[in-house]
Parts: sequence; C-alpha cells; structure tokens
Amino acid sequence: MVRVVVRRYAVKADSPAAGWVPVSYPIGAGSVELRWGSRDNILALCRGYTRPRGRPIVGDVWLAPALRGKKNERGVKYSALVFGRMFAKIEALLGAFVLHVHPDNYAAKKLYSRLGLQPTGKTTAKGLEVWTSPLPRQ
Ligand SMILES: CC(C)(COP(=O)(O)OP(=O)(O)OC[C@H]1O[C@@H](n2cnc3c(N)ncnc32)[C@H](O)[C@@H]1OP(=O)(O)O)[C@@H](O)C(=O)NCCC(=O)NCCS
Repeated sequence: MVRVVVRRYAVKADSPAAGWVPVSYPIGAGSVELRWGSRDNILALCRGYTRPRGRPIVGDVWLAPALRGKKNERGVKYSALVFGRMFAKIEALLGAFVLHVHPDNYAAKKLYSRLGLQPTGKTTAKGLEVWTSPLPRQ
C-alpha cells in the first residue's frame, strides 16, 4: 500500500521543486508548500500563498506525470487522494482559499469539482477562471 504523507515547508524561491514548478505568486508571510514523496523524488506538490488583502491563493498544483490518471489499489485517484489532503491542510492553516485555473485545463477542473471546489463565475485579467474552496463549516 502506498502511504500518502503530506509534509509542510515554507515557500522559498530556492525550493528543490522550484526548478520545474516555479513559484507563481509573491510569497506572503506564512505561505506554505506541501509535498508528497521524498526530498529527492517529489510526487506531488502545491503551494498556499498568503496575500495582503483577500483570501489566500493556492497555486502550483502538480502531480508527477507517472501518477496522472492513476488509481491506488482501492480504486481512488491519486490526484483526489493527495490534493484532498493538501487542500484540507491549506484550509486548516490559512482558511478558505481561491485558485486560478485555465479554462481548457479539464483535468484540473474535474479534480477541483471532485474535491468540492466551485467556480465563482469570475475570470482574471489573464482569462483564468477563479475557483474557491468551500467556506468553513459552521
Ligand atoms: C491537474 C492534475 C493534478 C490532475 O491530476 P490527473 O491525475 O491528471 O487528473 P485525474 O485523472 O484525477 O482527473 C482528470 C479527469 O479529467 C478528465 N479529463 C482530462 N482531460 C479531459 C478533457 N480534455 N475533456 C474532458 N475531461 C477530461 C479525465 O477523464 C479525468 O476524469 P475521471 O477522473 O472521471 O476519469 C495533473 O494533471 C497535473 O499535475 N497537471 C499538470 C499541472 C497542472 O495543470 N496543474 C493545475 C494548475 S491549475
């Protein structure tokens, strides 16, 4: 069985992953990088960035190509398993967040819907869709 242990790091421009998953947003205090895998073999990553105003933003959602579309032995997509944990952790640490996604990125949008995120109907100046995590439950 493959154990999914998500580890938390500070976001740094010289993160070992920054070479192929570049840091996308200004790094606010308390921003987090979540990783699954070992230091030498990162299997999944995403970052939660704090911002001076507005909700935190999640970016740099990345799953190793070998695991894309793949399921574990229980038939659960690795993407849903790993990012379900990562997004819950980011919500717990930073609160409800937004996320920007290219309208043609069907794999990402299907994953986000599966995890309960919702499109707000807004787009950024660059034409990216703005999605949001659920508000904290009362
Ligand atoms: C985004 C990412 C994490 C998704 O993980 P994944 O394992 O590739 O995707 P999944 O297999 O979980 O889900 C993809 C779903 O979208 C569907 N899909 C993919 N391309 C599609 C298309 N062109 N049209 C319709 N559906 C499509 C797949 O059929 C699948 O559906 P299913 O789960 O019901 O079978 C991964 O592809 C990745 O790391 N991509 C590169 C980085 C990236 O784009 N990050 C997101 C930035 S916002």
